[in-house]
Parts: sequence; structure tokens; C-alpha cells
Amino acid sequence: MAFPPAFLDELNARNPIEDVVSQYVQLTRRGSNLFGLCPFHSEKTPSFSVAPDKGIYYCFGCHKGGGPVNFIMEIEGLDYPDAVRFLAKRAGLEVPEDAEYRSAYKKQERLRNLCKEAARFYRQELFAPGGQAARDYLVRRGVSSQTVSRFGLGYSPDAWSALLDTMTKKGYTNEELLDAGLALKSQKGSCYDRFRNRLMFPIIDVRGNVIGFGGRVMDDSKPKYLNSPETSIFNKRKNLFALNVAKKTKAGMLILTEGYMDAIALHQYGFDCAVASLGTALTEEHAQLLAKYTKQVVLTYDGDEAGQNATRRAIPMLERAGLQVKILRMQGAKDPDEFLKAYGANKFQALLQKSENQAEYRLISLQNKYDLSDDAQKVSFLKEASELISTFTTPVEREVYATRAAQAAGITPESMLQEVSRAYRRRTAQAKKRRERADLDVAGQQQPKEKGLRYDNIKSAVAEEQVLAQVLKEPALLPTVKLLPEQFSSPLLGKAFGLLLQCQRDGRPLSLGTLEGDFTPEEMNHLSAVVRRRDELVSEQALADCANVVRDAYEKSLRSGEDALLAVQQKLRTKKGYGG
Ligand code: GTP
Ligand code: MN
Repeated sequence: MAFPPAFLDELNARNPIEDVVSQYVQLTRRGSNLFGLCPFHSEKTPSFSVAPDKGIYYCFGCHKGGGPVNFIMEIEGLDYPDAVRFLAKRAGLEVPEDAEYRSAYKKQERLRNLCKEAARFYRQELFAPGGQAARDYLVRRGVSSQTVSRFGLGYSPDAWSALLDTMTKKGYTNEELLDAGLALKSQKGSCYDRFRNRLMFPIIDVRGNVIGFGGRVMDDSKPKYLNSPETSIFNKRKNLFALNVAKKTKAGMLILTEGYMDAIALHQYGFDCAVASLGTALTEEHAQLLAKYTKQVVLTYDGDEAGQNATRRAIPMLERAGLQVKILRMQGAKDPDEFLKAYGANKFQALLQKSENQAEYRLISLQNKYDLSDDAQKVSFLKEASELISTFTTPVEREVYATRAAQAAGITPESMLQEVSRAYRRRTAQAKKRRERADLDVAGQQQPKEKGLRYDNIKSAVAEEQVLAQVLKEPALLPTVKLLPEQFSSPLLGKAFGLLLQCQRDGRPLSLGTLEGDFTPEEMNHLSAVVRRRDELVSEQALADCANVVRDAYEKSLRSGEDALLAVQQKLRTKKGYGG
């Protein structure tokens, strides 16, 4: 759906970029711009800038940029319409929604309320006479009553329609119970409770809404866990169990576990920073969600094959989200829950302190791949290890791990260090060569970072960028620019120019923020880069010069197009024997 332009203008006016950003990033003024540490990638010196006069943010490090709506889309992980709604709420603006959205929203509100009521019902059942077995089970697993209430644990009765009947009485329909994933339909078409005779774990999103459930059997029957299916309010790729509690931690990290029970046990033993995935593999969305609340994630997956594979998969994903990753290895227990019960909180704390950064983790994983008593395998190990260690950034790290690898393989640290520096020199020489090649390719540097947006005509595109940057800085000059959007060699820049003309005709403010809905986030990143990069003085003469370059290039392309056409005609004529 599209929002009315007047509403979007009001939205942008009431959400100045510097106000919106400074709720997430600490900004310091430098000249007319503000700078801070980029929230989208990890850095130690600020390369993230906000230009209040242009209404945009732009990071010189990771090249993300845009207006307030783009910023909210990125940082809150929302799509365009929801980011607009988010900002409207922030500024106290009413969103002109269409009927379709209104009814979808109402439906979801009903499902959220239904899930909340269901959680309340399950909790009551846990303390009802029928919940005796579940209470015993909790005692057996050492879950305290404080933990039960903190996580709102409950019990689904051993009956076909206990929840269904109660919720129906409260006015919810069978349809709604099905939509919320709380009921199932039999072949005959009648509804029955999905969760029966299970210990219930409500899954609560960061805003505090109950959105689904996990249910565990209390004996050895299968399946051990039953989870709510994906529904219109429950997205497993975007939510984590216990994050609603853990997001308030002061621990400076989040511990990621595989099981609900692990997260719960950690909280009970004082580690209030534990979260669990929802019985699915970790996703990029999870990584971004985690990155909103912490800089460091500790992985505590099971030591078995599956757990190790999951760890290997998770590391790059978490690092891409700018997170520092540590891996905790447990011995003598399958998972954190078992470990805590066997060895206590202090031992776990020690493990946590010892948890490996990913350098150690990768070296040990490599070590486990080879049989180091076999000479041939030992050589392969040392070769691969020196390659790996040569990628570590500081000399201290390289020395520490080279020594460790040498010890593992029973060679002297000196010869290992030699191997590593050889690999390191090789690597830096290659990198230098690549850099030189890139420097030579000056034109290449003008190319957009996004491959899909490559310029066909660099010279013209540079002038087009200047035109856009200047008219955005000095909108009064737009009417002096004698150019048509189709004369731009870059379709993206031409489209932006056309939209600015349209804005001016409609009397709307001229800013990149106004165009947010018309471009993908990648295109917006690039347009913000253009506006930030081309920060030169504006004058009518400079604009006219740029416009001339664009127009010349356009006419030349027309001519070469005509030439090509002529050449084809010529060829055809020759072929058909018309002479020529
Ligand atoms: P406990 O036996 O209660 O300690 O479970 P755990 O937390 O150690 O669970 P486990 O390591 O077996 O599984 C980890 C997670 O995978 C669980 O929390 C569930 O989310 C999910 N899971 C486990 N078993 C099943 C199953 O049978 N079906 C589904 N759908 N998910 C499961
Ligand atoms: Mn377990």
C-alpha cells in the first residue's frame, strides 16, 4: 500500500534525522554534521555521519545510508510500511491506513490477546489439581517456583478441548484458535487442542507479546517438544526465546543456547543473559536481532556433530551482524542445563571466562581434524594451521597461536613461527597487489558499491551525481537545470532526478527522505553516498557545467546508437545486394 505524500512529508518533518538517530547512537557535532559509532557494523572510530541539513545519515565505513524511514527499517528490522508506522507513533501522528491493513491489524491484535489468554490458562492449569504431574516434573528438573513465574511456565491439560472450550467461552472462534496455532482440525472437520499433557513454555517477543508456545512431554514419548507453527504473529526466524528478559541484562553479552531448558536453567543460576533459538537453525535475522542488544554473543551449542555444525554455521552470520563471537566448550555434560546441575554456577562462570574466541575455536577444530601421530597428517595440519594463523590480525595473536599449534604437533615454536610469517608475507603481498590494481582502476572507485547499480558511463554518471547533490543542497536551483531524467546515463540517478522534479511540481520538500518509499534500501544507500560524497560548493555555473557533460554524453550515445543502427542497415543492404 502507498501512503499519501502529504502524510510522508509531515512524517519526515516531525522526525528529524538527528533526533531519530540519536535515540540509538551517541552523536557528536563536527561542523554542520554529526558523527558517531556506526550501529550497523562494528568500529572503534566514528565513521557514521548524520547530515541534518540533508536529512540523511551515511556511514563511510559500511556505506549504509538513507533518511529516517530507512534508518528505522535497518535498525528495527522492519519493512517499509512498518517503519513508517513506527515513526508515526514516535511523532504522535495518525497513520492513514487502508481498510485492508486495518482489518489485518485487528486480526493480529486478536491473536495476540488470544495467546496471552492461553498462557494465563496454561499457568492456572499448572497450579490446578490436574497439574500435579507437571509440578512434580518441574521439581525433578530443579526448576524453582520463581523461575516458573518469571517465564510464565504452564501446563496443557490431558484433554482434547480444555483450551478450546475455555477460549470459546471468552469469545474466540475456532478459526482464531487455528490461526494462532493453538488448535488443529481433524479429518472430520472438528477442532481439538494442539497442546495436550505438556509442560508449556510461552514464547514472548521483545515487546512483551505472547506469540507462540513450546510444549515438552514429561516422559520419554515423542515428539519431545512440540512448537507452535509459524502464524501471522509468530515468526521463528525473527524471535528468540527469553530475549524479552535477557535484553535487560547488564552482563555485556548474550548467551545463545539450543534449548528452552538451557536458557531457563542459566537464568535460574544467575546468568540473566541467556536466550534460546526456537528449535530452528540460527538465521541472519536472529543475528541482527541479537546485535541490537549486545556486542558479544557466546555460543553454547551441544558438543555433538550437529551442535558443532550449527556453531560453524552461526559464527560467520553473527560476525556479519558485527557481533564478537565466543564459543563455550563443555565437558562432562551435554548442555548448559545438565552442566549447571552437575557442577554449579561457579564452574560455568569459569567456562564462560575461558570461552574461546573464534581464533582458538578454529585452531582446535583444525587440530581435531587431523591425527597428529601420523607424520603426513601432521605436515598437512601445520600447513593449514600456518595459513589460518597468518590471517590473525595482531603479531601477538599470531605468536600465541603459532606456539600453541607447534606444541600440539610437537615441533619447535620457532619453526612454526617461520611458517606463519612466510604465509603472512605471502598474504600481505597478495593484498598489496590487489590494492594496487584497484588504485589503477580509478574509474572503478567511482562505481556504486552495489554491483547491480553499476554505471555504464562513468564520466556522465559523476556529473549526474553532482547535479543531484547540488539540487538537493540548493533546491531553488532545480528549475535552472536544463535536463530530462531520460538524459541521465544511470537509470537510478535519472529516476531520482525525475522524482525530485515531480516533488517540486507538487510543492513537496526536496530531500532524499521524501523519496525513501520509491527506492530499495540498497539504492537508498547509494543515493546517500552520492549526496555525502559530493559535498562541493553549489553554483548555477557549476550546475550548468555538469548538465552540459550529461547532455553531451547523452547526445553522443544517441549518435553512436544511430551509427550502430546505420551500420546494421548498411549490412543488411549489402547482404541483400542493394549495394552501398
Ligand atoms: P531437555 O530434554 O528438556 O533438556 O531438552 P533440551 O533443551 O536439552 O532439548 P534438546 O537439546 O533435545 O533440543 C533443543 C531444542 O530443540 C528444544 O528446546 C526444542 O526447541 C527443539 N526440539 C527438541 N526436540 C524436538 C522435537 O522433538 N520436535 C521439535 N519440533 N523440536 C524439538
Ligand atoms: Mn537438556
